[in-house]
Amino acid sequence: MNTRDEVGEFTQIFIALMGLMRRFIFRILCVGPIPNHISFIMDGNRRFAKKHKLKGLDAGHRAGFVSVTYILQYCKEIGVPYVTIYAFAVDNFRREAQEVKCMMDLMLEKVELSIDQANSGYLKGVRVIFAGDMNSINEPLRVAAQRLMEVTKDNRGLTVVVCVAYSTSHEIVHAVRESCLRKCDNGDGPLVLEVSDVEECMYTTIAPDPDLLIRTGGRNRLSNFMTWQTSGSLLHTTAALWPELGLWHMVWAILKFQRMQNYLQKKQKLD
Ligand code: IPE
Ligand code: MG
Repeated sequence: MNTRDEVGEFTQIFIALMGLMRRFIFRILCVGPIPNHISFIMDGNRRFAKKHKLKGLDAGHRAGFVSVTYILQYCKEIGVPYVTIYAFAVDNFRREAQEVKCMMDLMLEKVELSIDQANSGYLKGVRVIFAGDMNSINEPLRVAAQRLMEVTKDNRGLTVVVCVAYSTSHEIVHAVRESCLRKCDNGDGPLVLEVSDVEECMYTTIAPDPDLLIRTGGRNRLSNFMTWQTSGSLLHTTAALWPELGLWHMVWAILKFQRMQNYLQKKQKLD
């Protein structure tokens, strides 16, 4: 056996041990309540690229995608049924055209990869839903996103809502418009909208309201993300940049959620 084989074997043993340790930690974590829905404001990709002197406009976002796969895997192993990620805000269209193109191209690459993975059974139970103004993104990405939703629609293990070209203001305007149209089609009396009519037409209606909202990158804003749905959610912010978010941050955030249970439940009853 040469040195390279030995290093390879050592790496495999190390990965297996880490996996075992993770499962053990998750077992303990699952003794307490687990959030039904976690949403993520992924922030800090470009700062990560700068910090590590990575070259290329999409370098930070590429690192961010690696984090997405790990975090989704952790959520799946913990047994969280719904995850929402803020992948591209309506405001992000105001970034430099070149960066927007890079981000869209990268998203297309990852969506296409996910379609292949779904077809070969690698996504194992993950259902992907895209939420946002899909008409404002380019056609290849829109078509691929549609295809990914189609090929994963019967999966029930973990539902991942990917918010693209999303902002709550746009979502509300879209939902109000849509519910007006539905009501107009249904009758000829005066048009009265209920909150439930609007809620039914939201982009993110597939998932229940988030229990836990995690924002990376050290900022404490909601950035127009699910502000309608998060009035009762626990907000957890961390200084870690999105590509740095790892196992311990997740465990810490869920422990905080568990510690705050009494408060959150009392608050829900009062509302
Ligand atoms: C988040 O990171 C990327 C998106 C999900 C849109 P940024 O691109 O905002 O990176 P920073 O905050 O400028 O470092
Ligand atoms: Mg940012």
